[in-house]
Amino acid sequence: MTPRTILYTGKGGVGKTSVAAATARRCAAAGMRTLVVSTDPAHSLSDALGVAVSGDPTPVGDNGLQGQQIQAQEEMERNWAAVQDWLGELLIEHGVNRITAEELTVPPGMDELFSLLALKRHHESGDWDVIVVDCAPTGETLRLLAFPDVARWWLEKVFPWENQILAAAAPFARAVLDMPMPSPAVMADVRGLVENLIAMHEILRNRERVTLRLVMNPDRMVIDEAMRTFTYLNLYGYLCDAVVVNRVFPEAVADSYFGAWRERQQEHLELVRGAFEPLPVLCAPYFENEVVGATMLDRLAEALFDDHAPAAVLHTTLTQELELGEGTARLRLALPFARKGSVSLKQIGEELIVRVDGQKRTIMLPPALRELRPDGAKLEDGALEISFSAAEREALVDVAR
Ligand SMILES: Nc1ncnc2c1ncn2[C@@H]1O[C@H](COP(=O)(O)OP(=O)(O)O)[C@@H](O)[C@H]1O
Ligand SMILES: [Mg+2]
Repeated sequence: MTPRTILYTGKGGVGKTSVAAATARRCAAAGMRTLVVSTDPAHSLSDALGVAVSGDPTPVGDNGLQGQQIQAQEEMERNWAAVQDWLGELLIEHGVNRITAEELTVPPGMDELFSLLALKRHHESGDWDVIVVDCAPTGETLRLLAFPDVARWWLEKVFPWENQILAAAAPFARAVLDMPMPSPAVMADVRGLVENLIAMHEILRNRERVTLRLVMNPDRMVIDEAMRTFTYLNLYGYLCDAVVVNRVFPEAVADSYFGAWRERQQEHLELVRGAFEPLPVLCAPYFENEVVGATMLDRLAEALFDDHAPAAVLHTTLTQELELGEGTARLRLALPFARKGSVSLKQIGEELIVRVDGQKRTIMLPPALRELRPDGAKLEDGALEISFSAAEREALVDVAR
């Protein structure tokens, strides 16, 4: 059975590592064979757990929990060494100095991508009931995984020809282009990457077992970024089953220096509830201490999973779906609690503000919709369907019901 896999992502410093470790401890305590694994190059699982975490799964606590910090460098060497050598040589031949060449053979985000791809082995091993992943900030890598169709095209169209092309083109390339053709080892690395991308994409789209949770703080900039990521994840078909708002000032600070700040946070919490509805919003307070070690992690888990089982799929359907046509688009938003009523839409830059029944919801639109304007909306079967067209009209629609 596919392990239940929970990926935590969000801006740097919001508490991903703490929340991932806390979730994993709670799962392990409930008797599940649990692995907490970090693919963020800024590893801090060791710090959070208060014990050493190595490059391979090893026990990291008293309750059977295992932890691993995937070593990007090792993954790169395992999967990309031939390409690096080939490309490096090529660049050096063309006058790029060695150090710069080494930098250039690893595109940004590549190391992190390979770290994430390492999860595939854990998925296939059968060793785990639950895998909790502490991801790098804000789903950049997940975005890379969202284009398996391109990868698949290469695999199907280009690779069957690869040997013939290589054999035929090698002397030509040497003589005319002044570049060495990639060796079979290079092609094998590229083929491996493509296959892994496709497999990982399939894993991530297994919405019965694999979900993402966005971690944020109740600050406007952090929330905006989480909303953007949320839109992307939905559009790629990756399921978010909850959002986490960490570091909420407790009531105890109401009359202190932080009182006004707390009030602002409460407003932002409302924004979060509106933007991510109907997903559950798991909240944790700003503790008086850093979240380090078993006791603090368990306090954090207690706050987060007060009402929920940590490994449950807390929400089962995609919240936004986008269909793109020629100069048109249709966006479907789940609004299960909206009753019949008037719907109004207002687009300001990349934000779409939807008002239904006096409830306000803000959505970050993907760039594909930037040139389009909403021109109609209907509320049906617990979903709001908004149509967009290229018409240059006032971006304001009122649909009376
Ligand atoms: N609810 C909280 N209360 C107090 N400190 C927290 C809380 N959550 C996280 N921290 C602390 O904030 C810092 C950053 O958290 P971390 O989980 O490493 O964030 P990220 O992985 O998103 O970069 C750590 O020192 C952590 O102990
Ligand atoms: Mg971290």
